[in-house]
Amino acid sequence: MRTLRILLCCFLLLGVTVAQISAPTAWTNNPQIESRVDALLKQMTLEEKIGQLITYSQGARTGPGTGRSDYKELVAKGQLGSIFNLTGASATNAMQKIAMEQSRLPIPLIFGLDIIHGFRTTFPVPLALAATWDPALVERASRVAAREASREGVRWTFSPMVDIARDARWGRIVESAGEDPYLGSALAVAYVRGYQGSSLSDPGSIAACSKHFVGYGAAEAGRDYNTAEIPVRLLRQVFLPPFQATVDAGSATFMSAFEALNGVPATTNAFTLTQILRKEWGFRGFVVSDFGAIAELIPQGVAANGMVAAGKAILAGVDMDMESSLYGPHLTELVKSGVVPESVIDESVRRVLRVKFALGLFDHPYTEGSASNGIAAEDLELARKAAEESFVLLQNEGGVLPMKANGKTIALIGPLADDAGQMLGSWSAKGEAKDVVTLRSALTSQVEAAQGHVLYAQGTGILTASDAGFADAVAAARKSDIVVLALGEDARWMTGEAASRAHLDLPDNQQALLEAITATGKPVVLVVFSGHPLVLNWAAQHVPAILAAWFPGVQAGPALSNVLLGASSPSGRLTVSFPRSVGQEPLYYNHFNTGRPADGVDLSRPPTNDGEKYRSRYVDEQNSALFPFGYGLTYSTIAYSPTTASATTASAKDLNAGSASLKVTAEVRNTGSRPADEVVQLYIRQTGTSVVRPVRELKGFQRITLAPGTSQKVEFTLGRDQLKFWNIDMKDVVEPAQLTVWVAPDSIRGTPAQLTIAP
Ligand code: NOJ
Repeated sequence: MRTLRILLCCFLLLGVTVAQISAPTAWTNNPQIESRVDALLKQMTLEEKIGQLITYSQGARTGPGTGRSDYKELVAKGQLGSIFNLTGASATNAMQKIAMEQSRLPIPLIFGLDIIHGFRTTFPVPLALAATWDPALVERASRVAAREASREGVRWTFSPMVDIARDARWGRIVESAGEDPYLGSALAVAYVRGYQGSSLSDPGSIAACSKHFVGYGAAEAGRDYNTAEIPVRLLRQVFLPPFQATVDAGSATFMSAFEALNGVPATTNAFTLTQILRKEWGFRGFVVSDFGAIAELIPQGVAANGMVAAGKAILAGVDMDMESSLYGPHLTELVKSGVVPESVIDESVRRVLRVKFALGLFDHPYTEGSASNGIAAEDLELARKAAEESFVLLQNEGGVLPMKANGKTIALIGPLADDAGQMLGSWSAKGEAKDVVTLRSALTSQVEAAQGHVLYAQGTGILTASDAGFADAVAAARKSDIVVLALGEDARWMTGEAASRAHLDLPDNQQALLEAITATGKPVVLVVFSGHPLVLNWAAQHVPAILAAWFPGVQAGPALSNVLLGASSPSGRLTVSFPRSVGQEPLYYNHFNTGRPADGVDLSRPPTNDGEKYRSRYVDEQNSALFPFGYGLTYSTIAYSPTTASATTASAKDLNAGSASLKVTAEVRNTGSRPADEVVQLYIRQTGTSVVRPVRELKGFQRITLAPGTSQKVEFTLGRDQLKFWNIDMKDVVEPAQLTVWVAPDSIRGTPAQLTIAP
């Protein structure tokens, strides 16, 4: 309600009508849709109702699957309401025709797909998109994906993944926005807006699916599918906010997670699925299980057989069974035996039909579009911009970057310099390697245009033990003025689902190649392609320049060449902490202080006395990240003034009532000689509160562009939404506190201002 009021004010200010602003969420409570749903439901048999609660995969599988493929028969009998992984206008239209013409009641199918970072136009992986700190760009990229997918009949994406990921070992960190709930919420909303547009019924809109509800990112030891233990305060404070933000933005569907959360599988978790999602947040769309997750209740140990599993899942609030094939065979019997009231089935069906009506599928079941042969020029341009904004310059000693191309010889070495398929990242939907421009191809043409020369040597494979290619690579390096080394992970094997890592080094002999090339004494620019934050200690000590490139998508090469040669300046910022050692994980900036902090102690060496030892520390590693959250360099230099505030005090009472707020500002100046985009970040810390609060928490950010020598005053507002937290009584309120605020370039720098929140 509050969010709606704020939105209303913003839109009225912009001169947008109320009818327009209600559009994004109009489907949730639309009387026409509700009466059509009710009328249809009355005509449906129990079997037809259950059919609406099932989705099966056509082809691609991320789990054991059902082994069945009798989809056409099931659709004709009204026993299958959704299919995923089926794409293409002719294939989806043909299947839809069966639903509309052969089944007793013409109820359209909804076709789903994992459209995670683009459909045909593959954008950078989500962790990279997050590093842009640019929600407007993420919204535009998601809109492109929606337009391309809907043209092929796909009106439902299993995205955004809004899991908070605090553990670099977890393979799926690449699909996330990183470790912060504030940034994560802003980006989550951007994805939903892009997919769903201003109206779900627009044929170019697709239904979003907020996943994985909830706590999947807290998998113990970073191992995929593993158990998560998250105390309720932490759950509400950190893990739930991005999900709630998507409900407020109108997200049409949710996916429940695989893991057991606090001992209760997410698939049978009535507390999260019914109490929080539906009762507290008022979600009116449907929840689909994750792939085969209902059947996984058996090995998890809470269901003796498929019948019990199906009963527990539907009663907890999972409306649709993805690929377990348990709702089909068992729900009828569960209803007949009285274990599951038919009203529960009706409610789930209502939710599914509501979304199908909202998408306009009953009126326009078929797509009239066709797959395009290529990618539109403006979409390529957006993909390039997204990639450029996502690169994070981690180190640039001696101003090695940007490189000069003029008449220079640049050695380009490494297994990721010319591998188009890898650039598509961990989960490209219909991306094609032939659309990708690699670094080798783009750099060669840009450097040759400037009368320079690129010497390419692969050096090694991504995952190879052989050093057969080292000699050629070293020879190329020796002949060059500067070396660009393109190293990193295998996108599909080492990042994404089922790709957790216990070691976060450069894989196999890539570290050896890095050392061999560095030993030539040539200046080295290390371009790291990865979906995890990697341990880069050796490189940080021996290599002058390091650029985190993630997996940049179809425009990898042009975007990288532009940044390496200085046509544009790097402006990405980390949204995950890069550890010094895997043993630090889970490592995140917004941790609590302890009673024995190690402030002021030199942690770069073992303790030498009791004062240094009896601290919250490691005896063999530092506590801090090698590269912290929010961090990233550019080619210019940026200076921040001290943080100032509009007033030094505000009362908790007024803040809670929404009648007070504090304005916090800093002057940000480009003191260098190049234009720069700066991501200005607002952090707070509260002390003297009823529960421990993090040492820093992000509460605002703005991406600004500064010409050389210019400055901008950047202002943030701290009101109820930024200052409230779940307190000792589990109330989400602003408490009296000492408040420290920083307007800063990252999570460890900035000059603080001290404020007071009075009673
Ligand atoms: C399993 C993954 O966990 C989920 O994210 C994905 O959407 C489904 N498989 C469907 O492919």
